[in-house]
Amino acid sequence: MKPKVAIIIGSTRPGRNSEAVAKWVYGIASRRSDAEFELVDIKDFNLPHLDEPVPPSLRQYSQAHTQAWSQKINSFDAYVFVTPEYNHSTSGALKNAIDFLYHEWNNKAAGFVSYGSAGGARAVEHLRLVMAELQVATVRAQVLLSLFTDFEDFSRFKPAAQHEVEVNTMLDQLVAWGGALKSLRAAA
Ligand SMILES: Cc1cc2nc3c(=O)[nH]c(=O)nc-3n(C[C@H](O)[C@H](O)[C@H](O)COP(=O)(O)O)c2cc1C
Repeated sequence: MKPKVAIIIGSTRPGRNSEAVAKWVYGIASRRSDAEFELVDIKDFNLPHLDEPVPPSLRQYSQAHTQAWSQKINSFDAYVFVTPEYNHSTSGALKNAIDFLYHEWNNKAAGFVSYGSAGGARAVEHLRLVMAELQVATVRAQVLLSLFTDFEDFSRFKPAAQHEVEVNTMLDQLVAWGGALKSLRAAA
C-alpha cells in the first residue's frame, strides 16, 4: 500500500495565496507514483475556534465538524503543510485546525512548503515545535518561497523553476518516513 499524503492548504483568508501554492505542490506530487496525494482545504471544514470541551488527546468529540476533520486527517500517513507566515508564525487558522486533534497526527510524518518575506522560515520553525508535541516526524528538506521573487505583486504565484526540484526532494523524504512509520502504528 502506497503512503497517503495530504497537502494541507494552511490559510482561510479571502484572496489567500496558499491555494495557488498548494495546487502547484499537488501538480508536482501528482506526477509521482510512490504515494497517493490529496489536497485538503481546512476552509472546507468550517472549523470555529476550538469548541470541544474535552482535550483532543481523549478523543471524545462532540461536534460534527470535529468528527469530519478527524476522519479526514486520520486517513493519511503524512502531511505537507502549505503555510503562510503571520507574525513570524503560521496562520491562526492552521494552528487551530491542528489543535482540534491529537491521535490522528501521532507517529506520522510532515513536510513544509512556506512563503513570506523570508520564505516563511519562521512559520515553519514554529510548526516544527508544534509537530514535536504531536509526535509527528518532520523532514529536513523544505520549500521556502519568497513573496518578492516567487509572486508578482505579492499575489500572483510565479515560482522560480528550482523550487520544483525542492518539492520533490521534500516529498522523497516525506514519502520514505510516512511509509516507515506505518509499521510503528500497526504495532501499536
Ligand atoms: C496577519 C498577517 C501577518 C503577517 N505577518 C507576516 C510576517 O510576520 N512575515 C512575513 O513574511 N509575512 C507576513 N505577512 C504576509 C503574508 O505572508 C502574506 O500576506 C501571505 O500571502 C499570506 O498568506 P495567505 O495569502 O495564504 O493568507 C502577514 C500577513 C498577515 C495577513
